[in-house]
Amino acid sequence: MPAPAQHRIIFDTDPGVDDAMALLLALRSPEIDVVGLTTVFGNSTVDVTTRNALNLLALAGRTDIPVARGAGCPLVMPLGGTGEWVHGDDAMGNVGWHAQLDPAQRPVDKHAAEFIVEQVMAHPGEITLVPVAPLTNLALALRLEPRVARNVRQVVMMGGAALSPGNVSPVAEANIYGDPHAADIVFAAEWPIVMAGLDLTESMHADNRIWHLLRDSGDPFGVFLARAVGFYQSFHATWYGLENGATYMHDPCTIAYLIDPTLFEGEDWAITVPVEGPAKGATIVDRRGKFYKTPKVHCLLKGDETGLLRLFQQRLAKIPPQ
Ligand code: RIB
Ligand code: CA
Repeated sequence: MPAPAQHRIIFDTDPGVDDAMALLLALRSPEIDVVGLTTVFGNSTVDVTTRNALNLLALAGRTDIPVARGAGCPLVMPLGGTGEWVHGDDAMGNVGWHAQLDPAQRPVDKHAAEFIVEQVMAHPGEITLVPVAPLTNLALALRLEPRVARNVRQVVMMGGAALSPGNVSPVAEANIYGDPHAADIVFAAEWPIVMAGLDLTESMHADNRIWHLLRDSGDPFGVFLARAVGFYQSFHATWYGLENGATYMHDPCTIAYLIDPTLFEGEDWAITVPVEGPAKGATIVDRRGKFYKTPKVHCLLKGDETGLLRLFQQRLAKIPPQ
């Protein structure tokens, strides 16, 4: 009998090339049981991100996992720019996903926020929320049922930049900038949060050594990711000047943290998020621990890139453990 998974997760996502990397890594990891996917705007509209979520599950042969469609716009602001310039017209690296792979697949008849509340309250202390997109669905879940905060096991998120510069403004990271009001609600709630922000994720790269391994592996997950990553690689080359096909491993850091938290180091700081002005969407951390009264967030600052890539290639390119 295989050992039971150590983490039951709801993956809150805007797929997205790096979202696909994270999801396929999770689906290949015995430590993780994916209870459901919740979708949100971000890398594209919620129509597109929901279609991509359904397609990823079809590709993975996991149409048993429910998808709950969530917010199509931020809580307060109008929908701003979406991320096709980073992820391609189909938000999946221009693999040509302009329709569903399995047209019969449907999201569940429930909003993402309702799905989160229902699952968390039915399994107190068991569910880990893994948001890797704007935090609108989590904020809505808190508004719908504030007791979710005390009933989740933890929140392990990709977003923010504690000490690093931003990636969509001088100070703001995309997922937080996408809905700063939601982010501020999420950081103020009484749940344990681990934040994999740009401090960590821009220090974790995969380059052509990994992408070619996946491409040549014959593993359908690895081969798909190697195809989808091309557009994302070009973006990283032109925008950041990264070489040898390197890309940042933003969203996969959340799953790697769940699998092996010893790969990462961080600090505990309370966070506030300005919702307007030039600092909109920044994650301001109280490093002196004197100014903000909200719960402290565990901000990951460093990681073992070799360890992350070892996990990635073992699980997605059928490379046996050394
Ligand atoms: O800033 C990186 C984040 O923005 C990732 O979650 C990526 O998928 C994009 O949504
Ligand atoms: Ca994402």
